[in-house]
Amino acid sequence: MNHKKALVIVVTGASAGVGRAVVRRFARDGARIALIARGMDGLEAAAREVEQAGGEALVLPLDVADAAAVEAAAEATEAHFGPIDIWINVAFAGVMSQFLDMNLDDYRRVTDVTYHGQVHGTMAALKRMVPRDRGSIVLVGSALAYRGIPLQSAYCGAKHAVQGFQDSIRAELLHAKSHVHVSMVQLPGVNTPQFDWMRTTLPKKARPASPPYQPEVAADAIHFAAHHRRKQVIVGFPALEAIWGDRFASSALDHYLGATGVDSQQDKELIEPGYRDNLYEPVPGDHGAHGRFDAIARARSPQWWMSKHRMALGTAGALLAAVGGALLFGRKSR
Ligand SMILES: NC(=O)c1ccc[n+]([C@@H]2O[C@H](COP(=O)([O-])OP(=O)(O)OC[C@H]3O[C@@H](n4cnc5c(N)ncnc54)[C@H](OP(=O)(O)O)[C@@H]3O)[C@@H](O)[C@H]2O)c1
Repeated sequence: MNHKKALVIVVTGASAGVGRAVVRRFARDGARIALIARGMDGLEAAAREVEQAGGEALVLPLDVADAAAVEAAAEATEAHFGPIDIWINVAFAGVMSQFLDMNLDDYRRVTDVTYHGQVHGTMAALKRMVPRDRGSIVLVGSALAYRGIPLQSAYCGAKHAVQGFQDSIRAELLHAKSHVHVSMVQLPGVNTPQFDWMRTTLPKKARPASPPYQPEVAADAIHFAAHHRRKQVIVGFPALEAIWGDRFASSALDHYLGATGVDSQQDKELIEPGYRDNLYEPVPGDHGAHGRFDAIARARSPQWWMSKHRMALGTAGALLAAVGGALLFGRKSR
């Protein structure tokens, strides 16, 4: 392997779900990847996948709510692989609950993992990237970074916070004329294990409100965001609809979600006895990237494809318009 070309990537939330799919995507490039999460079963399985794909892996089990541990992981990554090129903040934890049924310790824990976890990762990455004036950071967000929904107030608050955080640090980097880039990827519902291990105060199993996308669609967008200089990447028509819907009809959406959003996020099936959630501790075992919705999940997003190729589509459109204009002009002037 040519180490001069193999990028050094850090992925938080690398053991499962979207983060696991991101690890697989970068492993295809032969990257050297530091894998951060808590569960050793998922981390070791991810490391095997990286090595099988031709990359290199460094397993760093830690809790992203612990800023000192995240900083130590950045240190360990650079000691092992050299300078970090790309840092991707994926790790999150949520609670499905009416606000008044939640205890405040759990509320703070969601914020510590889902918001402060991204702040800790970004701090560790920027401290190293800014003096070198190069590097890319991806904040993984959600349509819910713009539009709150019932039963997920702690999560929605944390994702809104990440979105405001990005505006601030991006403006600071621009002020300093830095070449370090920070992008945010707003995902739609994704078919991951989260729906089977999020803490919940509800009797029924959690489910995405509309058919989710496969984690590979999310991973493709995150890989793209890490390599391009867009401020924001929105994935999937439902995410676009929620973000623009909130911009133009926020109050009407409150009423709509008040009427539909509680039931649409719950399955018919009851939660089984022995259910284990991952809010404070990882759930043992290797859970991979996919959740239980393979039968209905969407493997492609035409909206994301068009957004990804918008430059080429714009050029093709301009060419077509120019050719059409020339033909019309030629006919008229004959
Ligand atoms: N799935 C969706 O519908 C959806 C929609 C929009 C946005 N997103 C975003 O996509 C990202 C990934 O979501 P997902 O659905 O893939 O979640 P997931 O299936 O629940 O996976 C969460 C990942 O984060 C890790 N993690 C959880 N708590 C941690 C902690 N305290 N410290 C370190 N690692 C921790 C988990 O590993 P361990 O348990 O081993 O630590 C796991 O690797 C999140 O940022 C989420 O907001 C997801």
